[in-house]
Amino acid sequence: MEFHATTAPAGAQRTGCAVVGVYEGGELSAAAQALDAAAGGLISRVIRRGDFSGKAGESLPIADLGGGKVERALLVGLGPRKEYSRKSLRRAATAAAEWLKKSGARDAVLYVAGEQPAGVDAYHASRLSALAVASAFYRIPDLKSGKKPPAPKLAKLGVAINERGEAALARRGLAEAGGIARGMALSRDLANLPANVCTPTYLATRARGLARTHRTLRVRILEARDMKRLGMGSLLSVTQGSDQPPKLIVLEYRGGKAGRAPVALVGKGVTFDTGGISLKQPPGMDEMKFDMSGAASVFGAIEAIASMKAPVNVVGIVPACENMPSGRATKPGDVFTSMSGKTIEVLNTDAEGRLILCDAITYARRYKPRAVVDIATLTGACVIALGAHYSGLFSPDAGLRRELEHAGERTDDPAWPMPVAEEYADLLKSNFADLANVAGREAGAITAACFLWRFADGLRWAHLDVAGTAYLTGARKGSTGRPVPLLVDWLLAQA
Ligand code: BES
Ligand code: MN
Ligand code: ZN
Repeated sequence: MEFHATTAPAGAQRTGCAVVGVYEGGELSAAAQALDAAAGGLISRVIRRGDFSGKAGESLPIADLGGGKVERALLVGLGPRKEYSRKSLRRAATAAAEWLKKSGARDAVLYVAGEQPAGVDAYHASRLSALAVASAFYRIPDLKSGKKPPAPKLAKLGVAINERGEAALARRGLAEAGGIARGMALSRDLANLPANVCTPTYLATRARGLARTHRTLRVRILEARDMKRLGMGSLLSVTQGSDQPPKLIVLEYRGGKAGRAPVALVGKGVTFDTGGISLKQPPGMDEMKFDMSGAASVFGAIEAIASMKAPVNVVGIVPACENMPSGRATKPGDVFTSMSGKTIEVLNTDAEGRLILCDAITYARRYKPRAVVDIATLTGACVIALGAHYSGLFSPDAGLRRELEHAGERTDDPAWPMPVAEEYADLLKSNFADLANVAGREAGAITAACFLWRFADGLRWAHLDVAGTAYLTGARKGSTGRPVPLLVDWLLAQA
């Protein structure tokens, strides 16, 4: 889809569909008022009849505006005026997109984007709304046989801004939205693929493909023998039960000043997590194909950053493997030596994410990174704590924590701070090794983060547990592309 910024008032501009906002209770936004005037009071009549309340997320099409420049209108609810926020704007843009997908309109103007929440400028408002639309237009590359449903007609989307002076800001926002949308789509495609297709080898091939598309990208693939040479006993302990060869995928993006230390993104790439010998229960086990969502978000963030040629240096590090039971698999109680030299007693083979991430974090040290952020579908406990709305955000560095929290707020891809503290890390004590890979049932998301913390000594490090946010379950099962928006916003802030 093609995005452009526009300043013409609603009703004065030719379009297939004018999307205007209405606050809860029926109060028209400025754009809705302008369109209402151009359409002889049609919108206020609809509201007066009680056909549209303006609740957040609701929408009502007006099929025909009786001639004039606007073929159709779509009213979208903005919710209560007092609570109007980025989230309301994003929900309104998403509601518009859901309708536009099914409509015959080939082009539309999102006047609702001009309805900027307090503290949100034209740059953020246009980026947020364009991204919401692009994201809603994503289609799962499914493997259904038979006729595909027809592709949506919409090809062009205008994003309204209020003043000419804001056009440059809005255009930058739209360009970034395009990049983030590409990154999210890549991330979702990878995570949605079944594990028999999306293997560690497949991920390595896709990484090589990315490096062919972007000349600013270099790729390095480490094989099992390289991992052995580097002493990555912890990572290797997870893959040893699988017939699929593991890969450590490194993507180096150089867009910033040469010699400026990069930021490292480390993504959990377990392409299928059976739990290993500590086997998972059958119900819902298929979801464990999404256990490489952290890796997918690293690919997505790098695709976004590279396609918008952002002036930053980033290194993506993805340990990719399967966690399978077999005669060669790790047994509970086995002890391994990690690349850091620390020994680990594997009490539960299903706590495998931390075992591959700790070696990847140690590997990241060779880049002398300014910051290391790992992203992982790490614990079911995080899903219990935060559900599907906020990612878990862990860092002993208050500054980094705040940066990531703000990036999540700006993109409405939120993360909530959780503690990292010695009291929890102490629970990982083992009688047989430097530390155990699990503690008790209590505070499971926090003890998992504290395990990684033990390997991040001296690094400016944060951990995002996206087990609840990276994909949806139930009727809308599939990858969400989160936290690509958060990551990209944060990376852009480093520029
Ligand atoms: N990949 C899972 C975490 C997970 C669970 C993600 C549910 C998404 C939904 C992870 O490898 C795992 O199995 N964690 C265990 C840790 C436990 C053994 C300490 C868990 O959360 O049960
Ligand atoms: Mn597991
Ligand atoms: Zn896992």
